[in-house]
Amino acid sequence: MTSEHKSNPEQKTHWEAVFSQKAAFFGEEPSDFAKKSLDLFRREDVHSVLELGCGQGRDTFLFARSGLRVTALDYAEAAVAEIRKRAAADRLSALVIAQSHDVRQPLPFPDCGFDACYSHMLLCMELSTAEIAFLLGEILRVLRPGGLAVYSVRSDLDKHYRTGIQLGEDIYKIGGFVVHFFTEEKIKKLAKGYDLSVIDRLKEGSLPRDLYCVTMRKRAVSEASQDNPCKENTMSAPLNRFQDFMDASLAPGVLDQKTKQLVALGAALAVGCDP
Ligand SMILES: C[S@@+](CC[C@H](N)C(=O)[O-])C[C@H]1O[C@@H](n2cnc3c(N)ncnc32)[C@H](O)[C@@H]1O
Repeated sequence: MTSEHKSNPEQKTHWEAVFSQKAAFFGEEPSDFAKKSLDLFRREDVHSVLELGCGQGRDTFLFARSGLRVTALDYAEAAVAEIRKRAAADRLSALVIAQSHDVRQPLPFPDCGFDACYSHMLLCMELSTAEIAFLLGEILRVLRPGGLAVYSVRSDLDKHYRTGIQLGEDIYKIGGFVVHFFTEEKIKKLAKGYDLSVIDRLKEGSLPRDLYCVTMRKRAVSEASQDNPCKENTMSAPLNRFQDFMDASLAPGVLDQKTKQLVALGAALAVGCDP
């Protein structure tokens, strides 16, 4: 059996139905993996996070409440709409951008714009090995040099491994959900272009799900290198910080109108515009 399993639209429909029927399918609380990742992001001075397969946003809002700018993607439109609504209600719209996107397509972002990419149990969905390799290449492209890619996947030590209906190599349909189980060897093979720092294990939920939690880093390239696609983006870190500040100050309810005008005037003068 090869890993080149062809996916069909059925899983997207399944996730849409699951999220439409239950407001917090994975619970209200953020995952343990998100809490661990947040500690790492704080140590690493991460400001902008791309979250892939965000579901209903239990981890998105942990990051946003901690002041990180989160771009959260999922192909389930019901989940994305719910996140947008909640971000507005919690006055976090300045920090949360939720977008519907299928990760089998190129990521809709320029090179080198994110400090970190986070995904919890996305890469182990109905994706072939080739699709996962393509996605990891896309993540590498949109991360800044030295940026972090952290992801969790169902492991070959999970008690559901090799149960259900087999659809491809290490891909099984179990109770309506398609799961691609990972081995440590697969994680190492897929880390091409990254420095692989850690493979941890974590258990989640009552099943419980047995997860590999992976931390990788995009290699830093010399600024002067001809092959450095991030060369033109060397201003992105200070600009991101400037953007964080502007977003936070101009968010509804943070400052009164007059103070907002003063902030905008100061910003215009700082970048040399005629206010
Ligand atoms: C196991 S759930 C995890 C959700 C969320 N990370 C959490 O832990 O609460 C997997 C998520 O990946 C999304 N997903 C699956 N395949 C996808 C694809 N090809 N593109 C984008 N999202 C996908 C599903 O809609 C679902 O929200």
